[in-house]
Amino acid sequence: MGRLDGKVALITGAARGQGAAAARRFVAEGARVTIADVLDDEGKALADELGAAYQHLDVSSEDDWAAAVERTVDEFGSLTVLVNNAGILHFSELAKTSLADYERVIRVNQIGAFLGMRSVVEPMSHAGAGSIVNVSSVEGLAGMPYLVAYTASKFAIRGMTKVAALELGRKGIRVNSVHPGMIDTAMVSEAAGGAEIDTSWVGKKVALGRVGQPEEIASLVVFLASDESSYSTGAEFVADGGATA
Ligand code: NAI
Repeated sequence: MGRLDGKVALITGAARGQGAAAARRFVAEGARVTIADVLDDEGKALADELGAAYQHLDVSSEDDWAAAVERTVDEFGSLTVLVNNAGILHFSELAKTSLADYERVIRVNQIGAFLGMRSVVEPMSHAGAGSIVNVSSVEGLAGMPYLVAYTASKFAIRGMTKVAALELGRKGIRVNSVHPGMIDTAMVSEAAGGAEIDTSWVGKKVALGRVGQPEEIASLVVFLASDESSYSTGAEFVADGGATA
């Protein structure tokens, strides 16, 4: 018996990285899954491999959210889990951050999570149950230089999680945030424009002495999506190898 038998999940940013790792685990645990992303080729290939659905979804688009939710409910009969995982990173000094770059990060990370939560209230209320897992970051717990927009967006996700948990608890909908530390995906290297990333701090600041793997976040997301976490809502779940200990 799978830990997510009977669940229907929409996972954003699931074409690769942590979202793809979550999609793999969700399917293995018995969930029916819609993989949603803007990377259509990668997303479709993964969906075909897993027997999942693929839906193009730019999380900053209201129309795309309406289509993704409708597609999932049409295909699987309900929608009981949302993983707001899609995100982008932009490194720059505060004094040199353009308004356009700031707004781009906020639109995807913050507005994307807001639109996602808003879009699933109706189907989850209809089902009488739901779990929303919002992927924030350790940058949603403490400031980080050169990441003003990203940090703002991840603090916002943490705050919105609590508002949603308070409003939706009596409908049977739980909402929690996940706060990964540095995870081995393409995000950081891409944002650095392919430049060499200095990870020497990991050995000193991370208690476990290494970066995390996407699967180590996926197992936490499975727990929060499942009924095993039935008394957790409005809470912060940190998986950072002890970086913030
Ligand atoms: P990634 O870059 O491999 O994955 C991000 C995914 O989001 C990609 O598939 C990308 O196409 C998708 N995406 C980007 N913009 C989108 C949009 N407008 N609409 C839909 N999808 C979009 O990176 P990773 O690490 O898997 O990131 C997943 C989440 O984890 C993000 O929210 C990120 O901020 C967060 N995170 C990552 C950490 C890391 O060290 N890699 C640390 C803490 C949090």
